[in-house]
Amino acid sequence: MSNPHTSAPETATRPLVEVKNLRVVLPLIEGNLTASDGVSFTIPEGKTLGLVGESGCGKTITAQSILKIAPRNSRTSGEILLHYPDRPPVDIVSLGPKDDELLSIRGGEAAMIFQEPMTSFSPVHSIGNQLLETIYLHRTRDKAKAHEIAVAMLQKVGIADPAAALRKYPHEFSGGMRQRAMIAMALASQPRLLIADEPTTALDVTVQAQVLRLMRDLQRDQGMAILYISHDLGVIARMADEVAVMYMGSIVEYAAVRDLFHAPKHPYTKGLMASVPRIGKKSGEPLESIKGNVPVPINKPVACGFFPRCPVAIAGVCDKAVPPLVDVTPGHRSACFLYPEVVAAAGLPQGAANVH
Ligand SMILES: Nc1ncnc2c1ncn2[C@@H]1O[C@H](COP(=O)(O)OP(=O)(O)O)[C@@H](O)[C@H]1O
Ligand SMILES: [Mg+2]
Repeated sequence: MSNPHTSAPETATRPLVEVKNLRVVLPLIEGNLTASDGVSFTIPEGKTLGLVGESGCGKTITAQSILKIAPRNSRTSGEILLHYPDRPPVDIVSLGPKDDELLSIRGGEAAMIFQEPMTSFSPVHSIGNQLLETIYLHRTRDKAKAHEIAVAMLQKVGIADPAAALRKYPHEFSGGMRQRAMIAMALASQPRLLIADEPTTALDVTVQAQVLRLMRDLQRDQGMAILYISHDLGVIARMADEVAVMYMGSIVEYAAVRDLFHAPKHPYTKGLMASVPRIGKKSGEPLESIKGNVPVPINKPVACGFFPRCPVAIAGVCDKAVPPLVDVTPGHRSACFLYPEVVAAAGLPQGAANVH
């Protein structure tokens, strides 16, 4: 952490999770797909890191790596350090699939919620049985106490008649209720980290707003850290303390939420902002969107991944070298050759990118 170019944005708190140079490669028939390509970030204790980018940028696979649930045949390298208050950190990448340590992290220290809550529930058991199972496993073996905790959790997430809800099956809940029940289940183990992967994407805006508020309230009460994943910058603006913008498996911009929204540095981030109503646009102005699609990162060229879609790309530079992610203002990192700090960090001569 001594090199200012590689340090995370300044935070007053201690790191809970440090991801260092994470690479996740999926061997496919068409070639090697690099879903996560040298990703580094820090989730501070009790804070929210937003991970944002269009669909296909590698957000989910990166998050799954923290729980070691990335696709079965994937190859992972790098480090994912989980810090503890009273013992040395554990490198999750180095744990075996059956390691007790990994099993206590999954659903214990760290829990995950998804866009589709049916994937975290079994359809054939009642909500109550599933919630109680988590509580038995991670909190208490005492039946009466476990029941009390289950009722309290459902109350906390705003389910009106918790005793009746415990007897219901997942399909008997509305989408918003299922989302709340999934949050209750994820938080029942009192995790120190909650990974939230687009949990409100399928909900209508009113319910989405309620669920976002609920997560913020629960974070304040329980002091957990959140990795909040979304393709929606508006949601990220509401939830995150710091934001990492991901494109084609790499983080291209990383800053405190205020800095990112007030002064975005990377052309990709600017493009994302231009396509969101209310952010960076006066009402009535037409929305622009970034042209083209996220390429599938198979056999990635040695170039900026955004080059083919970038409105300000510099031919001969951006298509010839990979821009490193470094500070372009204190604590605000961008991986773009428009910034002399990035040109210098790549070892290119200053002036190489002086086209603009
Ligand atoms: N199980 C899989 N098999 C093959 N390719 C996958 C699999 N899961 C994800 N991918 C590919 O990996 C890349 C990253 O996917 P993902 O992490 O799901 O992105 P995001 O969550 O940002 O939408 C995409 O190109 C996607 O098509
Ligand atoms: Mg995803």
